[in-house]
Amino acid sequence: MSQRTCLSIILAAGEGTRMKSAMPKVLHPIAGLPMVAHVVRAAAAAGAGDVAIVAGRGADEVKRAAIPFAPSAETFVQGERLGTAHAVLAARTAIERGYDDILVLFGDTPLVSADALAKARAELAKGASVAVMGFHAPNPTGYGRLIEKDGALLAIREERDCSEAERTISFCNAGLMAIAGKDALRLLDAVRNDNAKREFYLTDIVEIARGFGLAAVATETAFEDVLGINNRAELAEAEAIWQKRRRREFMLDGVTLIAPDTVFFSFDTEIGADAVVEPNVVFGPGVKISSNAVIHSFSHLEGASVADGCQVGPFARLRPGAELRGKAKVGNFCEVKKAVVDTGAKVNHLTYIGDAFVGAGANIGAGTITCNYDGFNKFVTDIGAGAFIGSNSSLVAPIKIGRDAYVASGSVVTEEVPDGALAFGRARQATYPDKGRQLREKLAAAKRKAE
Ligand code: UD1
Ligand code: CA
Repeated sequence: MSQRTCLSIILAAGEGTRMKSAMPKVLHPIAGLPMVAHVVRAAAAAGAGDVAIVAGRGADEVKRAAIPFAPSAETFVQGERLGTAHAVLAARTAIERGYDDILVLFGDTPLVSADALAKARAELAKGASVAVMGFHAPNPTGYGRLIEKDGALLAIREERDCSEAERTISFCNAGLMAIAGKDALRLLDAVRNDNAKREFYLTDIVEIARGFGLAAVATETAFEDVLGINNRAELAEAEAIWQKRRRREFMLDGVTLIAPDTVFFSFDTEIGADAVVEPNVVFGPGVKISSNAVIHSFSHLEGASVADGCQVGPFARLRPGAELRGKAKVGNFCEVKKAVVDTGAKVNHLTYIGDAFVGAGANIGAGTITCNYDGFNKFVTDIGAGAFIGSNSSLVAPIKIGRDAYVASGSVVTEEVPDGALAFGRARQATYPDKGRQLREKLAAAKRKAE
């Protein structure tokens, strides 16, 4: 990575009216992370030390989204939308601090890769004053065209200003660019709004640079990298591209995905090598899966950690604070929330474990419920190592079940069960010989009479 200092300016003032949303466009998430945060993350990975975000409404929320990836991110407000060059100049005081490189990014172009940004910065290191990111569009309609000659970029021409011949050029302006810090203000201040839209176009700095005798170049970027989001259909398209990339990365890192197209990750999902993820699994934010774990079909996980060799699902739900330790098993139709399932413990069928500790090697029978909530407060259930909880038991918290204790099935447990004890928390069975047959005859006779 270059030693040059860098400021990333992220334009995020777009109204995003086509999103038809109360939320600013750049806060709409991809893989559970606001799109502007994806841009900040890519900038940070490309070595952009400082980040300035030019925001419209919702500036405080936009800043909050950026902070985890750029703790010193600053926001600037562009009061009036007078064009992309005007927007960049909203961050004038940041530019004035003096940087080697200035990266201009769009908050609504979330799939930009660190590689693409590094490639543009490399052109500045080689002496260019402006490096514009371009892409080859199958259908270039609507994009500014890159007019090149002998490897130099002469101009960016907006579609409406193109000649017939220029309109056939398929090399398009992605909008993102790198500008040499020493030239940036001089270039930006020279932009005029003498065009049809009366806007200050950032794209004009290419011709201005040439007028000053400075070099401008275009770098090629994949179309997918610079996909701009204007509506929710494009948001879903970007999500699909992101997921596809992430699945591939996981597989190349040693994770088995049997049907990759049916598995969905969050921006921060971590999975160790030799883990297996079966079809139709969703990872919400904050999930960490260790090696050799198997996540069976139709499971939903968020805020959970799953240790080496654990088995989850099918049809399991792990909610925030679920911690499965080595070789633990959580089976079908089980929900675990804010609870440890310690090494080798089994929660195999139709169970809710919330606000609990399940000791090593404990066996939780089918249908067991930790009754953790009285409508006002949450209480803890503490189950000792090696305990056996019989099927269909209700453990009414706060409650402690000792080591190697045994709870009879169908119990409602409201008092502590000491280590090694056997607890019955249910009524004794009463059996009356022949009474079943007699009752049946009586009911049948009554029904015949009524007909
Ligand atoms: C721009 C480029 C065009 C390129 C296209 C790629 C210019 C003049 N044109 O066109 O060559 O092919 O992107 O998608 O740059 N913004 C502000 N404040 C403003 C104006 C814009 O923050 O005053 C932000 C927008 O929110 C958006 C970005 O800048 O994120 C681009 O602006 P937009 O109006 O969408 O430019 P395009 O017409 O798409
Ligand atoms: Ca646009």
